[in-house]
Amino acid sequence: MKIAVIYGSDTGNTERVAYLIQSGLGQDIVDLYDVYAIDSTIFSQYDVFIFGVPTWYDGQLQSDWELMVKKMNTTCLNQRIVAVFGLGDQENWGRYFVDAMGTLARKALACGAILVGKWPTFGYHFEQSQSLIEENYFYGLALDEDQQPELTAERVSIWINQLSAEFVNLGIHFSVIKNVA
Ligand SMILES: Cc1cc2nc3c(=O)[nH]c(=O)nc-3n(C[C@H](O)[C@H](O)[C@H](O)COP(=O)(O)O)c2cc1C
Repeated sequence: MKIAVIYGSDTGNTERVAYLIQSGLGQDIVDLYDVYAIDSTIFSQYDVFIFGVPTWYDGQLQSDWELMVKKMNTTCLNQRIVAVFGLGDQENWGRYFVDAMGTLARKALACGAILVGKWPTFGYHFEQSQSLIEENYFYGLALDEDQQPELTAERVSIWINQLSAEFVNLGIHFSVIKNVA
């Protein structure tokens, strides 16, 4: 079984993290896609997805994801396992920190997905976020290449090990390289 990592990226940060996740999980089990280059038929081709999205302009989805979300119908992710990661800037955009990750996660749930990979808010300093799934947890992995770039590799490494454990609990087995830092 393979995982599709699908990312949108305007200035390259989310793309770089997508490659990091691919190398951490293993190139043999991860196919990488820029959401700009694919259409919604991708969702029938895999059982497991990782979506990566940066937030732009006061809490908006990255523009290519915006287009894709409009094409996603209410069953397109039925019973698919989905994890999300989001890029943002907690200092300059602290009232909208990684909002797009929440938008995308809620869309995935509305399309029938089983969501995994929630991530604690500990260590981030922001005013508000539409990406909170519950108190003290984001829907997925929040990353800040603008203010905390030195933490990205370790956060990714911990998250993919967490995902691996969640996959096992759901009866899916992948072999994970332990460290991408
Ligand atoms: C004009 C502008 C608007 C932004 N808006 C937000 C925002 O609303 N929320 C947030 O968390 N980050 C915001 N950011 C930060 C970006 O999400 C961040 O730089 C991200 O790493 C960009 O990812 P990309 O290179 O994959 O496009 C903004 C950045 C710029 C330059």
